[in-house]
Amino acid sequence: MSEPIDIDSTSMRALVEGFPKMLRLSSPSEAIIDSARALAKQGIQGVCLVGMGGSAISGDICKGLVRNVAEIPVVQIRDYGVPKYVDKDWVSIVVSYSGNTEETLLSFNEIRERRGSAFVITSGGKLQDMATDVPVYKLVDGIQPRAAVPLILSIVLPLIETLLGIPMSDLIAASHELERMPESWAKSGLTPNKVAHELSDVLPVFVGAEHLAPVAYRAKCQINENSKTPSFHSELPEANHNEIEAYVLYRQRRVMPVFLSSNWYDERVKKRIKETRSILSEQGVDSLQLESEGSTRLAETLGHVYRLDLASVEMAELRGVDPLSVPLISKLKKRV
Ligand code: F6R
Repeated sequence: MSEPIDIDSTSMRALVEGFPKMLRLSSPSEAIIDSARALAKQGIQGVCLVGMGGSAISGDICKGLVRNVAEIPVVQIRDYGVPKYVDKDWVSIVVSYSGNTEETLLSFNEIRERRGSAFVITSGGKLQDMATDVPVYKLVDGIQPRAAVPLILSIVLPLIETLLGIPMSDLIAASHELERMPESWAKSGLTPNKVAHELSDVLPVFVGAEHLAPVAYRAKCQINENSKTPSFHSELPEANHNEIEAYVLYRQRRVMPVFLSSNWYDERVKKRIKETRSILSEQGVDSLQLESEGSTRLAETLGHVYRLDLASVEMAELRGVDPLSVPLISKLKKRV
């Protein structure tokens, strides 16, 4: 179980500022790692990550981090049920912070019906009740799922790495690096507050590639849920094959692309970012580029998440909306 977080869970700002600290508060038990090791040894066909919204994003980020080394498929499913190929030879990691998300519950049911192995990560709810015969990691309760990402990620990443038989990432080192990042953001001028001001009056489109494509998606979701304003994401190189033709209208519609840089991108992707930004500029469209911080791919990835999570709270404050509550998501959940 996660340690108590000792962060004011009624304040999204406090939760997001606690991101680096939260990365150090949970880790899978020896028993959980041992079962993952045993499954890996037995031989598995793939890893299926199951979850919705804030509970799914850690899976996306982890999937991005292992993309170059995974020798079996790692898929993320956000749906009522999992594809047929997820059979008894696959291992699933099922995450629902509340434990009551219907899509996730149905998928878990299906996995168990097919006799697939699973690990469950939840703070309680129906999922915990249903998970009587699989390893369960219990999260501390009482925080918004999207703010629990560092807690969830520090369970999901070591689990996936064990299942894939690859070395474990150093989350503690990454956490300490994240704590030092606000200083370098201030030096480079793009603090979360500055990013929020740049984006407050435009339609942001976060652009990532490779391991940062899920980070662009996370930023879009955080701006939607925390700042309650439209935002989109896109991915390179794919966007160069379609979206680029619409750039001419970006200025008129006040769209602002925000590029997430990486020291680890393929040189061809780096070139695409540079040339895409110059094409945008030729169309009279401003864009932002967030430079890479961090000495590892993990720290870089989480550093982008941390800065943009903070920017989404800053944007909420600029807009005078509550970054914590999600009344429309709650309303819809009651209706369906
Ligand atoms: C709310 C949030 C949502 C939920 C989603 C699924 O903070 O992030 O996107 O994560 O509605 O609910 P859970 O996470 O409880 O399975």
